[in-house]
Amino acid sequence: MNLMVFGAPGAGKGTQAKFLVQKYNIPQISTGDMLRSAIAQKTDMGLEAKKYMDAGELVPDETIIGIIKDRLEEDDCKNGFILDGFPRTITQAKALDELMKSSGKKLDFVLSFDVPDELIIQRIAGRRVCPKCGASYHVEFNPPKTQDICDACGSKLIIRKDDNADTVKNRLLNYHSQTSPLIDFYKDMGVFVRIDGSQELNKVTKDMFEYLL
Ligand code: AP5
Repeated sequence: MNLMVFGAPGAGKGTQAKFLVQKYNIPQISTGDMLRSAIAQKTDMGLEAKKYMDAGELVPDETIIGIIKDRLEEDDCKNGFILDGFPRTITQAKALDELMKSSGKKLDFVLSFDVPDELIIQRIAGRRVCPKCGASYHVEFNPPKTQDICDACGSKLIIRKDDNADTVKNRLLNYHSQTSPLIDFYKDMGVFVRIDGSQELNKVTKDMFEYLL
């Protein structure tokens, strides 16, 4: 199964993708995580991407398309994958379409989590992430069992550098201007599924699986 989780920053894409990974045993391909890993390794690409990410801007299409192309060719993607955070522009969506066609694959579903901006801001303000395994928590809505400690790997949780009020405003502006046009693109392709992402976490997961099963 080839899936995409879609939505504004903080809509719950990463959180729900983890449940899909467990259920289908296919990899989550998060461009945000790949870029953060490149930053941690201080690669040239990572250091260049960091400037955009810290400002809440999108990293240039050619950089992102290049890393996705290489990643989708890896062995663990043979039985399917979950795209998380890609594509975010029409140029990226068209490039993905070409890549899929050239490898004889098709996208099965674009699972779109619809969440109003006011709630997005609350979610991002309370988010805590694990720098080691990438798990995401919320101080109020989805707290770890022990405060500030990752349930999955025991690492100390951190606040993402781009989860501050000014950057979030910019990320939302970019979502509405550059990414939301993809809704019509995938509706036209017949793979778009709208899920009410503003509901309580378990209810969102339930709705998602009801659709998929
Ligand atoms: P990226 O890492 O992809 O960030 P994002 O899209 O801004 O998405 P988030 O990770 O912020 O949110 P999410 O939807 O995964 O929410 P989560 O599940 O954590 O990208 C970062 C940057 O990299 C971009 O700004 C850009 O610069 C660059 N980039 C990445 N991809 C790119 C691309 N393709 N092109 C160009 N640039 C790119 O949930 C959020 C919080 O809410 C958590 O605290 C969670 O616990 C909580 N929560 C989740 N669901 C619920 C619920 N139902 N109820 C209550 N709380 C919930």
